[in-house]
Amino acid sequence: MDLYDLMMKRRSVRSFEDRPVPEDVLDELLDAAVNAPSGGNIQPLSIIVVEEPAARAELAEMVGRQPWVANAPTSLVFCIDFHRVMRWAAAFDVEFRGQESLLSFLIAYADIMCAAQNVVVLAESRGLGSVYVGTILSSIEHAREYFAMPAHVLPVMVLSLGFPKSVPRNIPKLDRHAVVHSEKYAARSDDEVRDDFERKYGSIDEDVDRYLERAYVEAVERDKQAPRDDGSWVGDVKRRMQKLEVKSNAEFLFRVRYPQDLMVRFNRDLVRALEGAGFDFPLVKDR
Ligand SMILES: Cc1cc2nc3c(=O)[nH]c(=O)nc-3n(C[C@H](O)[C@H](O)[C@H](O)COP(=O)(O)O)c2cc1C
Repeated sequence: MDLYDLMMKRRSVRSFEDRPVPEDVLDELLDAAVNAPSGGNIQPLSIIVVEEPAARAELAEMVGRQPWVANAPTSLVFCIDFHRVMRWAAAFDVEFRGQESLLSFLIAYADIMCAAQNVVVLAESRGLGSVYVGTILSSIEHAREYFAMPAHVLPVMVLSLGFPKSVPRNIPKLDRHAVVHSEKYAARSDDEVRDDFERKYGSIDEDVDRYLERAYVEAVERDKQAPRDDGSWVGDVKRRMQKLEVKSNAEFLFRVRYPQDLMVRFNRDLVRALEGAGFDFPLVKDR
């Protein structure tokens, strides 16, 4: 398939067949990751391949009980790895202080995502599906301990992979014109911004189930793969939407799905976890 068509067709897959990723394909995926662009070509990354069922289950717990992480035959834990770089520098009596530099951290994070996205695209072309799982950032301490990571190694992204059992098809995206600017940033009017998102998500009150299929497919998928004892995930989301009288897509996203006070609270935990892993760069408030 043409690469453009493949990229336009790709969707995050959360339902996997019960068969392994062939070893030769996994090797190719890992080669593609290691061969990705890297700032200064320093490659401050490590990838932990997780395939043992017990480890998959533990990883699924860490990322907030996302059942597809346990069900996927393979998950890759992408880590910023300054440990290897520091040891290399030390072997030649050179100081490496990336752990004190937000700039080095951001470049390393960009490296990670270049590597991971190489895997996503190649996996797709090999008939596999994948899903990023970013919530590992809320369990850094647990993950570092479980995977025996030394100081200055930080798990920042999980990518779960396997042969898709089903692929969601109606995940909406912003129109290209809402995102792309020509030569200079062209701020859109309030109405245009609102229309851009309305076009993306559609109306929230047309049919809540159909809306959630588009806007919160994780809850729908959880009901299929890990039903709750006390009702459904989608039912719970609907109740919260009702209680908060959610009427717009923005309210849904920032009050129900990603409550903003929680995001700020997680931020504090994240900073603590960074410190625990030996990262020590000044943050905005420390200026
Ligand atoms: C940084 C990042 C973090 C993500 N974290 C999760 C996650 O924790 N769980 C999950 O099921 N999907 C996660 N996803 C997948 C997104 O939900 C998905 O990409 C988005 O809904 C768009 O759907 P699409 O990938 O099918 O185009 C993540 C994606 C990115 C890029």
